[in-house]
This record gives sequence, C-alpha cells and structure tokens, in this order.
Amino acid sequence: MNAAGLPRIVTALPGPNARKVIDDDARWVSPACTRSYPFVARRGSGAVVEDVDGNRFLDFCAGIAVCSTGHCHPRVVAAVREQAGTLIHMSGTDFYYESMPDIVRRLEAMIPHGGGWRASFGNSGAEAVEAAMKLARHHTGRGQFIAFHSGFHGRTMGALSLTNSKPVQRRRFGPLVPGVTHVPFPDPYRQGEGAGRRAVDHIRDVVFATAVPPDEVAAIVVETVQGEGGYVVPPPDFWGPLQSLAREHGILLVADEVQTGAGRTGRMFAFEHFGFEPDIIALAKGVASGMPLGLTLARRELMDWPPGAHASTFGGNPVALAAARVTLDLLEESLIENSRAMGALLLDGLRGMARRHRVLGDVRGLGLMIGLEFVDDPDGKAPRPDVRDAVVDACFRRGLLVLGAGASTVRLSPPLVIDAEQCRTALEILDAAIAASA
Ligand SMILES: Cc1ncc(COP(=O)(O)O)c(C=O)c1O
Repeated sequence: MNAAGLPRIVTALPGPNARKVIDDDARWVSPACTRSYPFVARRGSGAVVEDVDGNRFLDFCAGIAVCSTGHCHPRVVAAVREQAGTLIHMSGTDFYYESMPDIVRRLEAMIPHGGGWRASFGNSGAEAVEAAMKLARHHTGRGQFIAFHSGFHGRTMGALSLTNSKPVQRRRFGPLVPGVTHVPFPDPYRQGEGAGRRAVDHIRDVVFATAVPPDEVAAIVVETVQGEGGYVVPPPDFWGPLQSLAREHGILLVADEVQTGAGRTGRMFAFEHFGFEPDIIALAKGVASGMPLGLTLARRELMDWPPGAHASTFGGNPVALAAARVTLDLLEESLIENSRAMGALLLDGLRGMARRHRVLGDVRGLGLMIGLEFVDDPDGKAPRPDVRDAVVDACFRRGLLVLGAGASTVRLSPPLVIDAEQCRTALEILDAAIAASA
C-alpha cells in the first residue's frame, strides 16, 4: 500500500472549497438530506475519497454500502464507458436487452437454495422492495404484511409503510399503505438468549392469535441483517422458526438484501449465513458498484403477473447492467472472500477495543457490515447517541468517514476492496476517536 491509500488532511475542515459548496447546497438542495459532517466529494479510488480541497479520507461508508468494488474500479469504469458508447437506453419495459436475462442467470447461480428465479428490474432499493410488495400481493391475493420494528426498506409509499426506523421518516406522510403490522426484531445484545424464538412466538401467539389472520398475510418482509436500524445481526434461532411459521400459513418470505447483498457480509447474500431460504429477494446498492440498479428476484412460479402489471422505464438499463456484470465477476473472483477476511480482522481489533472503552458496549457484524454500539456502561446499556455522534465527528476530523445507524451505533461498511493496512489505520483512528469522545 502506498500513501495514496491512506488519509491525509491538508486544510481545516471544511476547507474553503467545501464551505462554498455547502453554502450553495443550503440554498438549492432539499433540506431533508441528512449530512453528519461537511464532506464534499470530488473523486474516489478504491477505498479512498478526496474532497474538493484535496483532503484524503479512508471511506468506511462506501456511499452507504454501494461502492462494493471500491470507487471507480478500473474494470467497472471500462465496462460503463464501453456500454455508454454502444447503447445507453432503449427501455427494457418495451424492448429486449440481452443483458437482462444474462444478469439474472448469473444471480440465479449464486442463490444456494436452487430452483429457477426471475427478476423484475428497477433503479433503487425502495423500488426493489416496492415490487416485492406488489408481487407478494398479486401472487397470493392477500393484502397484509408483517415487518419489523427499526426496519428500513426505503422511502416510497409502499416501502415506507414497512419502514419503522425513525419517526422523522414517517411523520406527516400518512396515511401510508394499509395492512402492515410491525413486530419486534430480535436483538441479541439487548434481548439476550432466545431472542429469535421469542420474536417468532410473538408473531404466532400475539399477532396471529389476536389481530391479523395469517391467511390474509401476503409476506413477511425482513432485513437479513438490520441496517439503518443499527447493524443488528439476528440470532440463529430466529430463522428456522420464522421459515416454518411462514410455510405453515402459505406466507411468502421477502429478504430485503438491499444493504446486505452483493458480498457485503462475506457471502453473496446474507441469508446464506443462516440457511434462510426466502421466496423473494430485494437487491440493489452494491450490486452495480454505484450505478443505479434494483432487482426483485423471485422464485419463477411466483413471478406470475401478466404483461403490464409492473415495470420501470429505466429499470435494468444497459449501463447499470454492464456495471453489475463486472461487479459480479469481481465479487466471485476475490471480493466476497476479502469481505470475510477483512471483516474478521476488523472485528478482532474492535473486540479488543471494546475491552478498553466502557462506552463501546457491543461490537457485532458479518463480513464488512459491522456495528459499534455506544452505551452508558456495559451493564445498564443506556444508549449514548452523544458519544456516537462525537465518535463519527472525531473520525471525520482524523480522515476516516463513518456513519451512524440506530440510536447509538456507528456503522462500518467499507468498500470490499479494503486491505489490511487500511483496516489497521481505521482501527487506530477509531481507537483515538473513541478515547477523545467518551
Ligand atoms: C435494507 C434497505 N432496504 C431498502 C433501502 C432503500 O434503498 P434506496 O435508498 O436505494 O431506495 C435501503 C437504503 O438504505 C436499505 O438499507
């Protein structure tokens, strides 16, 4: 690794050029965007991004778990350039592209629980979830959904109806799509042993027994690892009972793999860790390395809606699919493996750090999807959002970009190309940032 792969801060933050952009942004851009600190991006390469003043940062956000192959991977850039010079758009709703079936064939081969799969194409995670909801209703003829507390599935009306993460995301947008019942998500750190089984018991013994007839439920929609809600990894005792309950009542299982998919957790799909076999998979973010692409994959017999029932003008456009093809190549060649190896290195270092810092209550994660939860003290576990926010800011000032999630968690989701030296640098910065913030 040469120095170009490491952080270098050369101005006060924000620098003068960044300040100008931030002022313009305040005037012209929707104030509903949440910016944790004043980072103004100019260029990126691998796991490093540079701002408009020449400051270099190690990127442990990856555009919110999107730049899976790193920023501007040369093979992704070449594929995008070539496709952009050949055909940018025709519309897969009304015409055929050879890349549409090709990408589904590739993805189908990566889904371990067999069977034939089809995909509907969109441009974002929310669209992938939206299509999953529509398909589940269409196929089953049922209207209800079960979703989870603290879940995040996107901000379009259907996806937002499932989202249950922060009140600000829903306030004044109702009435939302009716028929969604939210239930507790199993959190091993806060709920202890047996949390997974208890979560399923609640659905069966409380929700189905009192309020929602199970034969009216189209689907249970679940993030395989909760993202925005705090990078919470559900315990293994959740998945078997959840799957049995769904099968018993003919309810479809939708895995929202928008954030967890595309190698993020050290497997192509996070459900592979748990032997969980969803019927429908929502995939977006990392699957096309930053080009907009959302896919709703479903077992072939489920995707039985007729022509005209659902589509998107831009969905599956050839440039995004060219990026996706190379992304899948890179994931299979080495990046899923690297996600596992670098994730293990980071988790090891962070668990050591948790022994030194009482405010670091929990370190958890799979592959390169890692959460650090900040609390008052390890016994009381009262969330400390102030400490979390201070850590995020202190990391930025030291050249490491991280974001928050949940009430008091820092999320780490670096590009899957990250190397060991960059991981060690990030650990040093996190250690110093926590020491300065506690
Ligand atoms: C699990 C999950 N589902 C859906 C979405 C929505 O994706 P998008 O912002 O691309 O619409 C997100 C975005 O963060 C997500 O994390």
